[in-house]
Amino acid sequence: MILLGVNIDHCATLRQARYRQMPVTVGGPIEPDPVTLAVLSERAGADGITVHLREDRRHIQDRDVVRLRETISTRLNLEMACTPAMIEYALKLKPDSVCLVPENRQEVTTEGGLDIVRNRDRVKACIDTMKAVGIKTSLFIDPDANQIELSAKLGAPWVELHTGAYANAYHTSARAKQLERLRVGATLAHELDLVVNAGHGISYVNISEVRTIPHLHELNIGHSILSRALFTGIEEAVREMKTRMNA
Ligand code: PXP
Repeated sequence: MILLGVNIDHCATLRQARYRQMPVTVGGPIEPDPVTLAVLSERAGADGITVHLREDRRHIQDRDVVRLRETISTRLNLEMACTPAMIEYALKLKPDSVCLVPENRQEVTTEGGLDIVRNRDRVKACIDTMKAVGIKTSLFIDPDANQIELSAKLGAPWVELHTGAYANAYHTSARAKQLERLRVGATLAHELDLVVNAGHGISYVNISEVRTIPHLHELNIGHSILSRALFTGIEEAVREMKTRMNA
């Protein structure tokens, strides 16, 4: 069975759109609460909760992450930039896993995989530091051989293959090529003993193809589940995605 990590960042995006200036993140008129969303997601079958604590704190806030750590009963996956400040933060928080992602202030959302080749030394240092305290490191990478091979060489236990290029190509003639790129990447990662996760741009439509990528352990899905939840509620949205993932 493929597991589902629900990325709840966009619940915080909605809250920050109205209550950015408030000194607190919850209570009184402040809504919606990402922690409530996380608990309801778990109740509907989410296998883990993912948040990206960005340097600019545009959606998820520090207080959200602490409350999640105290509240959820599945796994907390912290997406973060590979910086000394975030490594220190993760060591204090003790999430179940960290996922290293690239961060660029201008981007609307994470736009490409982390370039492990260019960031080799600091990625290796982060993997080793996390390993020493029992936190798994996942590397969010493009599904290319050089990135996958180096991830294994650096001792990462997990990779998260970036499905964004495939999702963007879904309605174009490039779709089959992007799907094949993911299939080949997942096969290589598995051969190198990496646990294969995937994420970005996965939807209720493309999931029927995404789930055919071999060796998938977990999918991290945010935007489409949150969008569906506006109409159906989060529990139904999570249940429906889990059903389609494992049809
Ligand atoms: N995985 C990673 C590493 C991400 O950064 C994100 C959010 O950008 C996601 C998964 C979820 O992407 P989406 O919101 O498109 O489902």
